[in-house]
Amino acid sequence: MTYRETYDAWKADPEAFWMEAAEAIEWDQKPSKALSDENAPLYEWYADAKVNTCWNAVDRHVENGRGEQTAIIYDSPITHTKREISYVELRNRVASLAGALRAKGVEKGDRVIIYMPMIPEALEAMLACARIGAVHSVVFGGFAANELAVRIDDCTPKAIIAASCGLEPNRTVHYKPLLDGAIELATHKPDFCVIFQREQEVAELIEGRDVNWHGFQYGVEPADCLPVEGNHPAYILYTSGTTGQPKGVVRHTAGHLVALNWTMKNIYNVNPGDVFWAASDVGWVVGHSYICYGPLIHGNTTIVFEGKPVGTPDAGTFWRVIEEHKVKTFFTAPTAFRAVKREDPTGEYVKKYDLSCLEQVFLAGERADPDTIVWAQDQLQKPIIDHWWQTELGYPGVCNPVGIELLDVKLGSPSVPLPGYEMKILDDEGNELPPGELGAIVTPLPLPPGTFPTLWNAEDRYKSSYLNTFPGYYETGDAGMIDEDGYLYIMARTDDVINVAGHRLSTGAMEEVLAAHPDVAECAVIGVADPLKGQAPMGFLCLNAGTDRDHADIAKEVVKMVREKIGPVAAFKLACVVDRLPKTRSGKILRATMVKIADGEEFKMPATIDDPMILDEIKEALQTLGYPKS
Ligand code: COA
Ligand code: AMP
Repeated sequence: MTYRETYDAWKADPEAFWMEAAEAIEWDQKPSKALSDENAPLYEWYADAKVNTCWNAVDRHVENGRGEQTAIIYDSPITHTKREISYVELRNRVASLAGALRAKGVEKGDRVIIYMPMIPEALEAMLACARIGAVHSVVFGGFAANELAVRIDDCTPKAIIAASCGLEPNRTVHYKPLLDGAIELATHKPDFCVIFQREQEVAELIEGRDVNWHGFQYGVEPADCLPVEGNHPAYILYTSGTTGQPKGVVRHTAGHLVALNWTMKNIYNVNPGDVFWAASDVGWVVGHSYICYGPLIHGNTTIVFEGKPVGTPDAGTFWRVIEEHKVKTFFTAPTAFRAVKREDPTGEYVKKYDLSCLEQVFLAGERADPDTIVWAQDQLQKPIIDHWWQTELGYPGVCNPVGIELLDVKLGSPSVPLPGYEMKILDDEGNELPPGELGAIVTPLPLPPGTFPTLWNAEDRYKSSYLNTFPGYYETGDAGMIDEDGYLYIMARTDDVINVAGHRLSTGAMEEVLAAHPDVAECAVIGVADPLKGQAPMGFLCLNAGTDRDHADIAKEVVKMVREKIGPVAAFKLACVVDRLPKTRSGKILRATMVKIADGEEFKMPATIDDPMILDEIKEALQTLGYPKS
């Protein structure tokens, strides 16, 4: 079938389309129907089915003769370690961990936070939760204690599974003090913590609360897979919104299984047994869907890579891993390619490796700039596929569906909507705009299986953030346009979210941290263009009247505060003091105009600006930070 035929088949009968896709899953009780729309605009998929994620991702492959196939390859240039785990080993390890969690009282529906680096045990922890119907929430290791505490209070976990440390190229990330600090800060306290002691750092355990990963599994009965309802939450994953309170994206079990399985062949073009590699982190949605669940559900081999595109040890790492493990489909973020390109513009490292196993490369997480795509095309001589998705959706909504049909690649566009999506561009009043015109990107409800049916403990926020602005549609939070051929172009966010090195961050959350500085009266954080990371956060501070402290000291202090409160991943390094912030007459800070000035772009003086002179002050402050760059 062509893309058009597949898409039309979905459009003609979505129910039949998704019921057919569901055939690839092993159900304990088959769903009687795909969509439940009784609570529209809140929808659920395969709600009356019974199924287990871990069974489908692990055990069934053992039953079906894939037991000896490698499920997970752990490749860590940081620790100089490589390890392979077969499906049968994975089953045994996960069953044992799940049994131990259950023996300590973790039951179906209980939440478990996982705070771990890129080691196979992170996937095992996720799968062990799925095995017994516990709901995991993985927290990215680059977040600080305060962010972890916010998540602990929101999802109130019975247990936390953590590693003793993470390893960045330049330092050891001491997880244990961060974990202890977070538990101290949080109002909710977990019953117990499981600590995986890495050989690089053995953490001290708190008696009565902490148990050792290995020790607590000793002598415990392994757990079988527990069938759960199709609409049972598989996990909660927090993502940045407009405020400091992150949004807990909920993923239901059955839709997640069906949709991810469908994407492995139809989008990523892999067959069971092939090696698939997403160079991301389990703390992000890409890690959930395409390091852990998608490849395993589909019977692929997945790679857990603990390293960076450059510096571990060099810009040839990606190519070394692809050659060595025979990767067929590779998925990374444009920022990672920009980092490689900067160190190896002429592809000297690419030439050193045999990349004949590699058939296609996918990019996502941020806008893929044409320069980077062209560089990758030239170096690799393979299709370089930009595709668009969001934590909320769990898998791509707009893509060049290589496994169905490789469509023309148009630089700057992630291509066309997949079954389940019908992207439209609306103006502020909700009118549909013609091709070529810029507006809010939306898609009609219901969202397809595997997307998010709600936010954890925040149904009203779900509605107000995504459903209320344009009734009948899901509001993506992105702005863009569609061309005459139906290709989508993503131009900007419509909210205060920025994208730093493929990491989604809230400027609002950073402003909350800056505002807590005792000398700061008012502040604004914007995302300025960055040649490596796409965007970089920059803070503007207005000080309290009478503050006579050195401005550079205050700037340094707020940089430190953001690192301590949000984490190193915020990469907040630029801050300056200004007398006033540019505002509209109604008091709204003109952040978009500030971004244009910082990026050295032309801008129109906003008609509603209160005092245009302030823009000159902003220009001066930007010059002290070296902006605009050119
Ligand atoms: N645990 C702890 N700290 C982490 C971390 C983790 N898992 N991941 C990143 N950090 C830290 C880094 O060490 C760095 O700290 P520093 O300020 O002390 O140097 C900081 O967070 C910023 O990290 P990052 O934005 O990743 O920048 P970098 O300079 O270390 O690396 C790239 C730049 C481009 C190589 C890197 O960002 C990259 O590989 N990005 C790809 C992102 C990606 O795959 N995103 C997933 C979307 S698909
Ligand atoms: P996240 O939830 O971290 O996956 O971030 C989602 C956001 O990243 C989207 O709403 C977009 O703003 C941006 N994004 C993701 N993929 C792309 C892409 N291929 N092109 C442009 N922007 C993208």
